[in-house]
Amino acid sequence: MAKNQITVTIFTQLIVISITTLLLYWLIKLRGGFAFTSDDKMKIFNLHPLLMVVGFIVFSGEAMITYKAIPAMRPTLKIIHLIFHMIALASGILGVYVVFKYHNERSIPHMYTLHSWIGLSTICLFGLQMLVGIATFLFPGAESTTRERIAPWHVSFGVVIFSMAILSAEIGLTEKFIFQKLQEGHEALVVNFIGLLVLLLGIVVGLTVVLPLRKK
Ligand code: HEM
Ligand code: HEM
Repeated sequence: MAKNQITVTIFTQLIVISITTLLLYWLIKLRGGFAFTSDDKMKIFNLHPLLMVVGFIVFSGEAMITYKAIPAMRPTLKIIHLIFHMIALASGILGVYVVFKYHNERSIPHMYTLHSWIGLSTICLFGLQMLVGIATFLFPGAESTTRERIAPWHVSFGVVIFSMAILSAEIGLTEKFIFQKLQEGHEALVVNFIGLLVLLLGIVVGLTVVLPLRKK
């Protein structure tokens, strides 16, 4: 593995660990923890940021850097790329389901914010990318010329969709900041630092994909 690949990989994992730790601290210690069913509806809501950030964003990020970060043969990398993306999609769908459930149980209307519009579009585009990805790269029927033609589109759309996921998370965090009337103080800092780390993850994953690091 080239030196720059190792540096990028370690840096990404450090960001992932920091995001996970800070998010768990925020949602468990400061926001009361998680529950799928509870009279304390906030516990149901808390599953939403957890699944969207630690599930959807972190796993799709790991999936996207697979080809640069893991020293393995191409067929193995393809499977790892696919499995990570599947975990990401499953978490994303569950995370959106949970926030719809929360809205239903508190009789809050659905899909009235920019966050929800961009967020749901992101999940739909991700699902579409997944279907096209499977049809093109997984099924043996596809011609190798078709694969070569589609690969640059797959990579570019992948980066666009991941950027949309980062954007959705940033708007979501800002919304929550405003709903909770946070201003200065401990929790405000925690939420803002989660936002900064998520942005940093977006930048590092994006650069890892577009820069010509050695590819397996
Ligand atoms: C990729 C990441 C994310 C996606 C795709 C996403 C998607 C969504 C969707 C589709 C809704 C609408 C639910 C409904 O109308 O019933 C929603 C609601 C909400 N989300 Fe997220 N979300 C993401 C991350 C986050 C994060 C990190 C937070 C931070 C706490 C957050 C906070 C909220 C809040 C406060 C609502 C309720 C208000 C609203 O509908 O905008 N979201 N999210
Ligand atoms: C929504 C899900 C997906 C996203 C966001 C995504 C994103 C990406 C990105 C950003 C790359 C570039 C990696 C690099 O050059 O370092 C890539 C490469 C690749 N992906 Fe995906 N991918 C997804 C799903 C899939 C699926 C389901 C398959 C099927 C197995 C697949 C197969 C591939 C292959 C074969 C490459 C290498 C393409 C090449 O440069 O020759 N992807 N993907």
